[in-house]
This record gives sequence, structure tokens and C-alpha cells, in this order.
Amino acid sequence: MNRREFIKFTGVSAAYLLGSNLIASCNNSSSASKNRLYIPSDSSQLLGYYKPSGRFEIYSEKASMEIFKGKQTDMLVYRVKHANKTYYNPIIIIRKGSTFEVDFINRIGEESIIHWHGFRAHWRADGHPAYSVANGNMYSYPSINIIDRSGTYFYHPHPHGRTGFQVYHGLAGMIIIEDDDEDRLKTSLDLQYGKTDVPLIIQDKTFNSKGSLIYNPMGMNGSMGMWGNTILVNLTPNPFMEVERRIYRFRLLNGSNARPYRLVLKRGSQKVKFWVIGVEGGLLDKPYETTEILIAPGERIDILIDFRLANVNDVLKLYSLEHGLAGMMQNMRMGSSIEETFEVLEFRVKKNTNYDKAIPKTLSSISKINTTNVVTRNINLGMSMGKFNIDGMLWDKNDALKDYGYNFTKGDIVEITFINNTGMFHPMHLHGFQFQVIKRVNSPSVIKNLAIDSSGIMVTDLGWKDTVIVGPHESVTIAVDMSHNFNDEQVYLLHCHILEHHDQGMMINYRVSA
Ligand code: C2O
Ligand code: CU
Ligand code: CU
Repeated sequence: MNRREFIKFTGVSAAYLLGSNLIASCNNSSSASKNRLYIPSDSSQLLGYYKPSGRFEIYSEKASMEIFKGKQTDMLVYRVKHANKTYYNPIIIIRKGSTFEVDFINRIGEESIIHWHGFRAHWRADGHPAYSVANGNMYSYPSINIIDRSGTYFYHPHPHGRTGFQVYHGLAGMIIIEDDDEDRLKTSLDLQYGKTDVPLIIQDKTFNSKGSLIYNPMGMNGSMGMWGNTILVNLTPNPFMEVERRIYRFRLLNGSNARPYRLVLKRGSQKVKFWVIGVEGGLLDKPYETTEILIAPGERIDILIDFRLANVNDVLKLYSLEHGLAGMMQNMRMGSSIEETFEVLEFRVKKNTNYDKAIPKTLSSISKINTTNVVTRNINLGMSMGKFNIDGMLWDKNDALKDYGYNFTKGDIVEITFINNTGMFHPMHLHGFQFQVIKRVNSPSVIKNLAIDSSGIMVTDLGWKDTVIVGPHESVTIAVDMSHNFNDEQVYLLHCHILEHHDQGMMINYRVSA
């Protein structure tokens, strides 16, 4: 059997996920059996680009997918039907300034709700677990005015205690917001969705020999989170992508439950530079050249790679290197590739072009939050009795709207310092607002080595963020402008985006007055 023959994808069949070949592979452990990276096109169902027009319905339901040739994997998916076309986990494209209106119908057999990660939405439209709906029920979201900047956003479930399970089983999707800055970039680099503007949704999962998912978070009470032994990019195990000698834009979304990636691009043993152009809250002021980035669960990083730096027939590989962020996992290794160096994606440079565009000089403008008058707040990240907590507290599942003592006034400029008293990293995430990273203190070497100035921050800390890595025993200060457009009190979440930490209670409500 020629293994390459197995790389099949049936693009438009109605039974797309049910019984037809999705992404097939013979064997994902040998490097001989690479699979073509799944990249959606205009006609795709899975991860298809979907532009809503008016209110739409999104279902969560059970589905089976063929991730490995001849094996059915029971998963959960989001499904949208539009103009006789069905999309699974669509990449939703919306315009800044437009209105996002959606009804969510839950059919996964347990309660769920969708959170629009990164949107500055009214809290009743934000997917707070208080609005979870039982199987068979619907949540009709109040319409959301899209005020956020062009960039890569994330939607996923947010029910109490089951987020990790549901995301792991497939409920995770990308949203792209477009605006004028984005239009300019797209024109200047001649970027096209699904061709040269490519989503890279990176996840790790563990399958049994029949192809079924195993959800088995590690450590005491699963407190280390779910670390899978198979890396998937756009649900493709062991992927390769053929590229031309020109600039590509990649939208990286770390949709893993717990695993951070320390990414480098290499040709042979030589590092190849690339450019960071955006993070969670959209485009940076300009491209920043680098050779290495860290991306934690929940983070999105948009990058440009110029394959003119390589020759036709060159192979470039995106690797994840050891990072030391997982504390005791490092030593224990738990029988899986927690801390190893592994390959994430292989690029095969196939073709010359007469492409003559250059990396742009500017992208957007970012105004710095004025921190002359700030409210400061320290938030301690700790662990007690096998569970990670926030200021010693755990989320109270019996009181979803509980007051944990984080109450702010509309318009406050708040400087929050996360003080990590544990040996494991925590990617801290805020709902409701985007923030700016101000400084890092006592950073582990993997972060310190990427510092761009004396504040200790990394390139991927620049711009507007919604999730920030807080390394083992590190302190990270962020600034949040709590101005909002709503005339009632907002109840937002602050939590760790290691989904098992969040499910076990590393989450609190904070309130911002009307
Ligand atoms: Cu993506 Cu509350 O999280
Ligand atoms: Cu969020
Ligand atoms: Cu955590």
C-alpha cells in the first residue's frame, strides 16, 4: 500500500463526518506516513468559512469522524446549516462593527453553552456557565455588537466542570474578525483564505487502537490536565503542507486542553525566522521578527512565514521544543510526550513564484493603556489538596454567580499581578475585556530568553491580549481598562485556560459596575 494514497478527503459529501473519509492515515507514528494537512476551502464543510447573514442557529451534537484511515472516532461537533450547505466547526467570519446573532441548540447529551472567547460581549451573551442549557434546549444569545479588532478568535463550550471533556471531544472553532487594517494587510500580501491565509488549530489527543478518544487527565485529581500523545493540526495527525515560495499567513490557535507549545521553524538544524503579526486581540502595530514563540492553551498567534527564505524542494519543519512549564510533569513524563521535542507540521516547498510582496512595515495602531491612575490587585495562583486555586478559592458550582470579592467600577484602569506560587504554568484568561501585558518578574528561562526588553515581556505579549502565560513561580502584571458600553453590571469570568484547572475550580467571577 502506498501510504500517501490514503490521504483522502471527501470535500462535499453530506455524510461527510459519518462514514466517509475525513482525514485518513495508515499510521501516525512513522514519519513515512505523513498526512496532507487539512485546510478548508470555500466548499469545505469541516472548518468551512462561514459568513453569517443575520441570526443563525448553531447545534452541538455527536458525530463520528475518520481521523485515522478505517477508524471511526466518536466526537462532538458544532454544526451550522446555511443555504443548503452544512458546516462542521465552521470558521466564522465577521466584520468589525457588525452584529453577531446566534441561537445555540445543545444536542450532545449533557449541558453546555458556547463562549465566544475574546469577544468583548455583554456578559449575558458571553457564555457564562450560568447560562448553560440542558440537552435538547436552546440558548438564544442577545445580539453582540462586534467592537473587537481584526484577528483570530475562538469559540468553545463553557459549561460547569465539563469544558475540558467537551473541547477535547471536538467542540472548538475559530472566528475571524475583519476590519480595515485586515483588508490592507490582505491586499498588500495578496492573502487568500484556505490558500495563503491558513488556520492552524493545534491540539493533542490520545486515541486507543480502535481510534476512540481517551480522556484521561493526569496527576492527582487529573490536576496536571489532559496531555494527549498525538498532535493534531486541523484534526490531521502527522501533517505536511505543500507551499510555494511566497509569504503565507498562519493563524495559530492552541485548542489543546493543557499543552503549551514552544514553536520553532527549522530547515535541517538551522532556525528559520518568521514574523508575529497578531495575538488574541488582533493585529500588532507592526510585524515582529522572531525564531521562537510560546503558545499556551487559549492563545492565538498570527504569523507570517516567507518561504522565499527556502528553496524549491526544501523541507521546513515546525517543532515544539522542551519548555519546562509543566513543573513536576517534566520529571514524571507520565509515559507520554509531555516535555519532549516533537514535530508539529512539515512544510514542503514545491514551487517558485513571481511573488514580489514584502513583509509590511506597519499593520495597525495600538494605543497604550494609560496607567497613571490605577487600581492594583494581586491575584495569587496556588494549589491546595491537589487542586489549583485562585487566591485560595475554588469555583462554587452551586452558585454560578457567586461574589468572590473582585468588584470593579466601570472605567477603572486595573493593574492585575498574577503571582504564581506553583511549579506549573497557568495561562490566565479574562472574559469581557482585552488587556495589555506590562511586565514579567522571576520568569523561567524559556520565557526570559524571549524577553524583548527590561520589562521581561515577549513578542507574543504585545498588543491586545485575552490570555497570558504565567510561568512557574513567575509574576505577570497586566493592565485592563474596564470601560464598557453596557448600562448594567457585568459578571465576567477570570480563569486558568488549562481546561482541567478551570473545570476543577481555578476560576472566579469578577464584576464591573454599570
Ligand atoms: Cu476560552 Cu472562559 O474561556
Ligand atoms: Cu474566554
Ligand atoms: Cu492552571
